[in-house]
Amino acid sequence: MNPAVAIHAQLITKGFGKGTARTLALKGADLQAHLGELQLIVGPSGCGKTTLLSIIAGTLVPDSGSVTVLGENLTAMRQGKVTSFRRRHIGFIFQQFNLIPTLNLIENASVPLLLNGLSRAKAERAAQDMLDLVGLAHRGKNYPRELSGGQQQRVAIARAMVHNPRLIICDEPTSALDRDTGHQVMELLQAVARKPDRAVVVVTHDPRVYAFADRIAEMEDGRVLSNQPALPGGPHLING
Ligand SMILES: Nc1ncnc2c1ncn2[C@@H]1O[C@H](COP(=O)(O)OP(=O)(O)O)[C@@H](O)[C@H]1O
Ligand SMILES: [Mg+2]
Repeated sequence: MNPAVAIHAQLITKGFGKGTARTLALKGADLQAHLGELQLIVGPSGCGKTTLLSIIAGTLVPDSGSVTVLGENLTAMRQGKVTSFRRRHIGFIFQQFNLIPTLNLIENASVPLLLNGLSRAKAERAAQDMLDLVGLAHRGKNYPRELSGGQQQRVAIARAMVHNPRLIICDEPTSALDRDTGHQVMELLQAVARKPDRAVVVVTHDPRVYAFADRIAEMEDGRVLSNQPALPGGPHLING
């Protein structure tokens, strides 16, 4: 496979439920994303974006199709191996931040390193460095509830990047944020994505995010209809 390919998902199908309640969330979705790029996935609510992200992340197993991430075929791997692959190489950012309320910010940002077996002291030192990078240097002993939404999302970014993952996967990362904070979050993600051996995938409804994309995939009804380079200054550049 071309080493510049970060994700290659082919003919993915996934259904939920049984009988008349069965929903086909993905109906043969294909996606190719590249290292050094920020890949956007857009499409109406319910078209299968989160389902596709979860399959790429290895947290959900497709009914059929194959997924290769960073050169590893996840669909051929044992689930335990998928979990350790994910902990090492993938970072996550969610719409609702998903910080742990009983942990302070340094502890929250340390979690991926602790899961990878690092000592608490080393993990917390690296977490502090990441909090510095996202502009929260002096808030490490605070708890998530003491922060604004934008600050919480920046902690979530610190957590997603602390273990230096090659792939960062984001599900609607700006939809709970105001315009300026959303802009800052996208700038941080874009800086990561532009590194040659990294990739960032962002699912979004938010047209303000389009200007940060290198490539935009459009989904509808369980399929990826197109995946085109974003045109600088072109129709995707929205200053909303
Ligand atoms: N765990 C689940 N159980 C049942 N149906 C689900 C589940 N997850 C998603 N779906 C259904 O699959 C379809 C696609 O959902 P989703 O991937 O969340 O779409 P999107 O993220 O684009 O809004 C929707 O019809 C949704 O209701
Ligand atoms: Mg979704």
